[in-house]
Amino acid sequence: MNHKDPQTLRRLLSRWTTGVAVITTVGRDGLPLGKAVNSFHSVSLDPPLVGWCVDVRSTRYDEWVEAPGYVVHVVSEGQTDLVKRFARSGGDKFDGLDWEPGPFGMPLISEASVRLDCQMWKQVEAGDHTYLIAEVIEVEDGPVSALLFHAGQPRTLGELAELHSAAQAVTTLHRPRVAPTTPLLKAL
Ligand SMILES: Cc1cc2nc3c(=O)[nH]c(=O)nc-3n(C[C@H](O)[C@H](O)[C@H](O)COP(=O)(O)O)c2cc1C
Repeated sequence: MNHKDPQTLRRLLSRWTTGVAVITTVGRDGLPLGKAVNSFHSVSLDPPLVGWCVDVRSTRYDEWVEAPGYVVHVVSEGQTDLVKRFARSGGDKFDGLDWEPGPFGMPLISEASVRLDCQMWKQVEAGDHTYLIAEVIEVEDGPVSALLFHAGQPRTLGELAELHSAAQAVTTLHRPRVAPTTPLLKAL
């Protein structure tokens, strides 16, 4: 398999189930800026650090790397539309959305599962992305169930469990009913 083919690599890595976050900050024009990401993850507990990777092809790339910080909204189960809104390229993604400026001036969106107000800590250029590590300076708790992202689709935990049961049923259906005869199958 050609690991240098971006489509192949993307398809295989999509089996790595993640959550989805909407990251917000303030752009050069003083207006809110946002993006749906699944590269977000925890980095360190002491100091409290988190990180995500911004695509260098992002239309507002320069503003993301200049930003003094960002807010991470861990998307909750009922926020699939929010992911679609923030996955669009360009345009005003905040148009008609309920948001408010937070204590550090960053845009806050409600109903997130977890909200983290963060200050930029370190940046690392990494191929076609830049890794933005930030220190968490404020945390807010929300609905427990977060939306997941698996095989290229946003999914709830319940949907993933259904997919898992369906996959198991197919495996059972295709299991040979007679005793395997070849040494290889016996070994299995
Ligand atoms: C589930 C999901 C995960 C994504 N993860 C990232 C990511 O980690 N980093 C990134 O830069 N873009 C990511 N994107 C793409 C951005 O959301 C999208 O390219 C961006 O919002 C386009 O906007 P822009 O060109 O206006 O910046 C992801 C999109 C989706 C749907």
